[in-house]
Order: sequence, then structure tokens, then C-alpha cells
Amino acid sequence: MAEEIITAKDVRLKYGDFEALHGIDLSFRKNEITAMIGPSGCGKSTFLRCLNRMNDLIDGVTITGDMRLEGKDIYAPDTDAVELRKQVGMVFQQPIPFPFSIYDNVVYGLRVAGVKDRGTLDAAVEKSLRQAALWDEVKDKLHDSALGLSGGQQQRVAIARVLATQPEVILMDEPTSALDPIAATLIENMLLELRSDYTIIIVTHSMHQASRISDRTAFFLQGNLVEFAPTKTIFMNPQKKETEDYISGRFG
Ligand SMILES: Nc1ncnc2c1ncn2[C@@H]1O[C@H](COP(=O)(O)OP(=O)(O)OP(=O)(O)O)[C@@H](O)[C@H]1O
Ligand SMILES: [Mg+2]
Repeated sequence: MAEEIITAKDVRLKYGDFEALHGIDLSFRKNEITAMIGPSGCGKSTFLRCLNRMNDLIDGVTITGDMRLEGKDIYAPDTDAVELRKQVGMVFQQPIPFPFSIYDNVVYGLRVAGVKDRGTLDAAVEKSLRQAALWDEVKDKLHDSALGLSGGQQQRVAIARVLATQPEVILMDEPTSALDPIAATLIENMLLELRSDYTIIIVTHSMHQASRISDRTAFFLQGNLVEFAPTKTIFMNPQKKETEDYISGRFG
């Protein structure tokens, strides 16, 4: 069986008194793409943010349960959240480049980590932009503002920025929902390429996207994980009525 890189057991999360996750057991295999689907408000983003401790940044949040990255407790007192977020990088729905050049956007994380050597930075920029399928489009204007790029290009810069820090896991929260179908397909194809080197966990409202690119799919409903199975099973032969209703568009 494929190696599990992240394991989560009985994850409960409260925003103040409101329990948004009611005990989630979900594990992610190395070099797979796992899709998380479910209607708005079911807790997909909340769960995703637990995996690299992004919820730590929100006031009044309590999280219990056991979450591990390669066996190491993500919430242990000696786990450095900044280091963790390098290993478990995140790409958001809106591509939000920093207001500086493409080059400076891509090396941002490396500079924060103290890398100064020009040759190292140059090599990381080329490698990350190639992996993000953007190099050919921007190699002659690396020092132009990233804000001058199209939405799809900006999202690929955001992906290159995450790749530059050499994460093991990439979390993506609806990374293509703000893009046109062509830009979205380009990113989907890139993710299929990246799968051989990374573990990808993607939240999506697109059933087409989940079925096209993911190996396994997790269906959430109202803070619970209803069904988790190989993507083919979820879409062709779901075991739970709620899953079937959702994927056939009866609610959500
Ligand atoms: N910062 C917050 N403070 C309080 N409640 C929150 C906060 N963020 C999310 N929630 C609540 O937690 C529940 C889960 O929200 P979450 O954003 O995880 O859903 P989602 O599945 O990602 O939805 P969507 O598909 O719309 O992005 C919702 O009821 C939401 O209102
Ligand atoms: Mg969300």
C-alpha cells in the first residue's frame, strides 16, 4: 500500500462555541492527488488549514485530535509552524502576487529563509517556473511586476512560489475557481505532472476537476467526512446516498 504522508484522526475544530469539524479521520498518500469536495460551509477549507496550522492564526479556534506529517505530530509544542508551512505549502483561491517582480515573488520564501546566493536563487526561479509551466512565458520579463500577468499566470506564479521552498505537500483551496477553463486546464495538467514529486490536496467545487485529476476523493457534509474512496468509486459507485445526491447535483 502507498505510504501515508499525512494522517489525521478525530479532528475536531471549534470557532468559539461553534464546532465546524466533528471528528475527521482522513489520511493522505504520498504522490497522490486527493480531492476534497462538498457543499459550501461543510468545512473543507477549515480542515485544509488544520494541516499546516493556518487556523492557529485565527482567534478563538480550538483544535483537538491527532495530525501527523510523516509520523511527526503537527501540533506538538516543538513543531515550528513556519518550518511546517514550508513542508506543507498552500495555494489559495485568489492568486495574490506580492506587488513586486515575478522573480522576487518566486524567491520570496527562500529569502525569508535567509538564502542570499544569487546563483541559488536564479536556479530556483528557473526550476520552479518550469515546474509551474510558466517559464517560457515569462523568462524574458522576470523583473517585470507580477501584477502585470493574467490571472492564470499569477496563479502559476503563486504555485512557483510554493514550489521554490521545496515542500512535500501542497494544499490548494479552489486554486482554479477564479480562472477561465483554459487557464484551469493548464493548471490541472501541471498538477498531474507535479504528482510524481509532491503530494497534492485540493479543495474543489468542480466535479469535473476532481474526477479528472484526483486519485482519491473525500466528500464532506456539515463538518463530517461522509465518504472517502478512490475517485472512480466516489463518482461511479458511491456507497452513501448523500454522496450520490451531491455528485449528481441534487444539492450543494
Ligand atoms: N473564521 C471563522 N470564524 C467563524 N466561523 C467560521 C470561520 N471560518 C469558517 N467558519 C464556519 O465554519 C464552517 C466551515 O467553513 P469552511 O470555510 O471550512 O467551509 P468550506 O467547505 O470551505 O466552504 P466553501 O466551499 O464555501 O469555501 C462554516 O459554517 C463557516 O461559516
Ligand atoms: Mg472554502
